[in-house]
Amino acid sequence: MSDASELLSATGTTPEQVYTPQEQPGWPKGNVGTLDEYRKRYKQSIEDGDVFWDKAAKSTLKWTIPFTTIRSGGFEDGDVSWFHDGYLNACENAVDRWALKNPKKTAIIWESDEPGQHLHISFSELFKQVCLVANVLLSFGVRKGDVVAVYMPMVPEALYAMLACARIGAVHSVVFAGFSADALRDRINDAQCKVVITADQGVRGGKRSQLKKITDEAVAECPCVERVLVFQRTGDVLATPFHAGRDRWWHEEIAKQRPYCPPTLVNSEDPLFILYTSGSTGKPKGVLHTTAGYLLGAALTVRDVFDVHSDDVFGCMADVGWITGHTYICYGPLLNGATTVVFESMPTYPNPGRYWLTVDTHKITQFYTAPTAIRALRRLGDAHVAPYKLDSLRVIGSVGEPINPEAWIWYHEQIGKSKIPIVDTYWQTETGSIIVSPLPRVTPTKPGSATLPFWGIEPAILDPTTGQELKGNDVTGVLCLKRPWPSMARTVFGDHSRYLDVYMKPYKGYYFTGDGVTRDKDGYYWVRGRVDDVINVSGHRLSTAEIESALILHPRVAEAAVIGVNDDVTGQAIFCYVVLKETPAEAVSTLSTSVARMPHPDGPDGLKRMTQELVQQVRQHIGPFATPKRIVISPDLPKTRSGKIMRRILRKVANGEIKSTQEEEISKLGDLSTLADPGIVAVLIAKVHS
Ligand code: PRX
Repeated sequence: MSDASELLSATGTTPEQVYTPQEQPGWPKGNVGTLDEYRKRYKQSIEDGDVFWDKAAKSTLKWTIPFTTIRSGGFEDGDVSWFHDGYLNACENAVDRWALKNPKKTAIIWESDEPGQHLHISFSELFKQVCLVANVLLSFGVRKGDVVAVYMPMVPEALYAMLACARIGAVHSVVFAGFSADALRDRINDAQCKVVITADQGVRGGKRSQLKKITDEAVAECPCVERVLVFQRTGDVLATPFHAGRDRWWHEEIAKQRPYCPPTLVNSEDPLFILYTSGSTGKPKGVLHTTAGYLLGAALTVRDVFDVHSDDVFGCMADVGWITGHTYICYGPLLNGATTVVFESMPTYPNPGRYWLTVDTHKITQFYTAPTAIRALRRLGDAHVAPYKLDSLRVIGSVGEPINPEAWIWYHEQIGKSKIPIVDTYWQTETGSIIVSPLPRVTPTKPGSATLPFWGIEPAILDPTTGQELKGNDVTGVLCLKRPWPSMARTVFGDHSRYLDVYMKPYKGYYFTGDGVTRDKDGYYWVRGRVDDVINVSGHRLSTAEIESALILHPRVAEAAVIGVNDDVTGQAIFCYVVLKETPAEAVSTLSTSVARMPHPDGPDGLKRMTQELVQQVRQHIGPFATPKRIVISPDLPKTRSGKIMRRILRKVANGEIKSTQEEEISKLGDLSTLADPGIVAVLIAKVHS
């Protein structure tokens, strides 16, 4: 956080254009009617929170045993609980309620990788499938509180697996299917999963990924795993290794089960899931969400931020491996009895019109994606949007990173036809659901601003250095929250002190988001991005320390420093500075064979190979989505005399703010007197910009 002030001072200005919401003929009455209504309800949620949340929880969720206590605990000890003497079941809330009321209604639309191939799954079918999988898990000995790893492609079965866990009170730990075997292994071991649910292969953009092979590689180093349940996505049995003692085929196992499984009674504060996310250290955190509060946040934000009505088709283009997929593909839409879209493909397959074809085909009413996709599609041209009507849409959303005004305006004009409200939704894995966002047809919007807080969210902007709250408008600082909200993460799995250290201790009495923010003259929030060592690449959150750990696993790497550089499409990109170990010729033979075969890194071929190996190293340790954009091999890093790396120098040089070694340019780097070797700055500039 030491760099927070510097990162914040580098942020831009706020454009002033305001878009006022307009009613459209034929649209249903909004769940929140007017800005005055928003303000009134928001005020109540803050000033009379117990009354607000009592009513919201009772009217939104089905309780098996109703609660009498609304909230207890606080930030200080991280012992927050909501509705803690109540009992309910997440799966019953998401599935059974609608399967009983309207069994034929479509719960899930699966849009497969190939256009034209899709499936409609009704609530009664979803109920049956979830019960079957729940019974399979029970037959494997999974019990309430056990953690089940889910490493699945974007198929309805991924949701069945999550909901089946919820049904029996097991805790799902979904691992994004783009993670490598090493990353999967670490996550399985951290949560001591007995069972892993996966698929033979994944299919995306016409290409297959070898999910079962990767799972096997991971599980080979996971002594806790007893069973692997394998769904056949492609049915390519020849390409899919199968270990008869440990592995079971999904279709064979469900065939043995009864399609009914009673929901387990679950306490409000029992865990619902763990989701690993990157933090400031190399080790990912297992963010743990509990049941009732999370469900309430998911349900209410879908209802009010997306103005969902029961006949709506909710199209969230994220992956279930991330929090957006958990809350806005699985739980949120289903808790509202709406139809949710499971999209297996990618925005540019087989052409850049794929999203819009999907919207028209399924009459999607709410469309939710990330700025990186919007920027990429904008670049590819309006001609790909033109053939589509997009007239089913009522709300379009953005999530995952700040959206630049140009991308916002393109989204508004091309996709929203200048009339559909955009909701730029700010939140995090840890917040469970959206915490700052406009409400459609209610909140006037400004391109690039997430606007105003959601129910019960009381933001505070603090001076990063003094920790003082900056009151009033027109202020910039770090974004904190002042009071607990129902869907906040309760702990880091197996490491509560880390939870306290990261979120509760930086600013006593506040939850610290890790983001910088401006509150403008109208009280609107403009989230600027992370002020810690977390970078955001295409909306994927990565820790620089995690990438550095991957790099130094390479036998030739002595030191590495990773920073985020600005990128027009991906928002940020990974830039690595690497220092190699001295490798005298006689020592080479003692290193691993692949290293021994390498030409000396100083030659052009050697450098190229070394760079490729390092890229591979990161891909293998984390996953292909973490591919570095650039690796610069440097003789040293800029360090203070006490050995601390001065990242601001690395950041400015990599971002092209300093391109030459002229004195005037170097002076832009600020005070360099604490550097142990000031000469390294010119060397770095030459390496990066020559
Ligand atoms: O920096 C913020 C950025 O994404 C971070 C959270 O990442 P993750 O936990 O992976 O969750 C992503 C999906 C919710 C935040 O700390 N972020 C998310 N949404 C926005 C955003 N930054 C600016 N504007 C947003 N709308």
